[in-house]
Amino acid sequence: MHETPASASFHSHGPLIGTIRVPGDKSISHRSLMLSALAIGESRVEGLLEGEDVLATAAAMRAMGATITREPAGIWRIHGVGVGGLLQPEAALDMGNSGTSTRLLMGLVASHGISATFTGDASLSKRPMGRVIEPLSQMGAQFTSSPGGRLPLTMRGACPAVPIRYRLPVASAQVKSAVLLAGLNSPGITTVIEPIPTRDHSEKMLAGFGAELHVDTDEDGVRTIAIRGEAELKAQQIVVPGDPSSAAFPVVAALLVPGSDIVVENVGINPTRAGLFTLLQAMGGDVQLINQRIVGGEPVADVRVRHSALKGIESPHDIVPSMVDEFPILFIAAAMAEGRSVLRGLDELRVKESDRISVMAEGLRAIGAHVEEVEDGLIIEGRGGAPFPGDATIATRLDHRIAMSFAVAGLVARQPVRIDDMAPIATSFPDFVPLMTRLGAEARPQGAA
Ligand code: S3P
Repeated sequence: MHETPASASFHSHGPLIGTIRVPGDKSISHRSLMLSALAIGESRVEGLLEGEDVLATAAAMRAMGATITREPAGIWRIHGVGVGGLLQPEAALDMGNSGTSTRLLMGLVASHGISATFTGDASLSKRPMGRVIEPLSQMGAQFTSSPGGRLPLTMRGACPAVPIRYRLPVASAQVKSAVLLAGLNSPGITTVIEPIPTRDHSEKMLAGFGAELHVDTDEDGVRTIAIRGEAELKAQQIVVPGDPSSAAFPVVAALLVPGSDIVVENVGINPTRAGLFTLLQAMGGDVQLINQRIVGGEPVADVRVRHSALKGIESPHDIVPSMVDEFPILFIAAAMAEGRSVLRGLDELRVKESDRISVMAEGLRAIGAHVEEVEDGLIIEGRGGAPFPGDATIATRLDHRIAMSFAVAGLVARQPVRIDDMAPIATSFPDFVPLMTRLGAEARPQGAA
């Protein structure tokens, strides 16, 4: 096993070259475990992300009655309890750093006659849960939360729950999924109206497991998703594609480091997730999606990336949900591009694992970039390819994507960019360091010469 140092700086000594695969998609991995745990029979999952966030979901589903085992070759087998069959967990469910686990599992518990307590780390305990408490309360669930609708919280599900028709007030796949998952065990039809489309893995996978689900899209692009409750889910064989949100880091690294030419194989390119690749291409990035194919019902490609001179960009607001997790690394790309980038409409970034607008602004300034922070985003004056001065220590604030973004920035900095805490990377991309090393980057433990 490759050791990940506690704190480190990243360096390049030449182009990044090679072919890698990134771990399985985090969103699909969570849903694979949850839906398999509710199905009848044994599901088999290949390519599951074995990061801390997904392992928190696995532990929670076990605590509520599912049997989940991992074979040495990385195949996961899940025996479900059937919709309606979740058991009362004996202890609090520790969600670690994972907002997706928390919000989706709250949806599941909401329509079962059980109660559960959710706890999390310091980052997760600051994140708003009111956005799911509100619709799930309408369905009949009861909550006792910490001030501001935060963790730790205890909830009691309603059985039967009340099916609702709910219009999403924020563009959030987590809120959409929580309501749909609650609808799975509610009598009648639960409907979610989504004015701005977000990732559609829940819809696709619920239908794949045999739930009756209909999606209508009107002429303005507003989606209405209706699920019939008291569904019976049938066990499935799932192949999880590589996570585009993890591929984002080596992809931007290869664009920035002169002479680089890499391929990231088997990356999910579902249009509700692939906004970063489109935006990087529009910035002049040589990013090619080759060998496009369907794997396990999801579009997948090998992503070939060659070093490119990037131009600044103004990101359209409607692209935000399809790359909501990719803005930290896009900010690094924009800071190295030629000209100004105006990246706005990003209010949701303030309530991710950290406030990604202010934490990225602070880190970018510390390494010598020119950044203006506005309420809903950043305006960045790019360096036209000139390396960052560097010589700064970045406060990661329990946010994996902050750590990986500044690891990439270090590859194009004259002096070290020190990442204070590498541990959060294990939540989503446990083999980030060995994969970047395989492409030719060097991870230097902090304090070493
Ligand atoms: C996710 C949805 C997004 C994303 C998160 C994963 C999901 O969150 O940021 O990493 O799997 O549904 P929001 O729905 O809160 O935007």
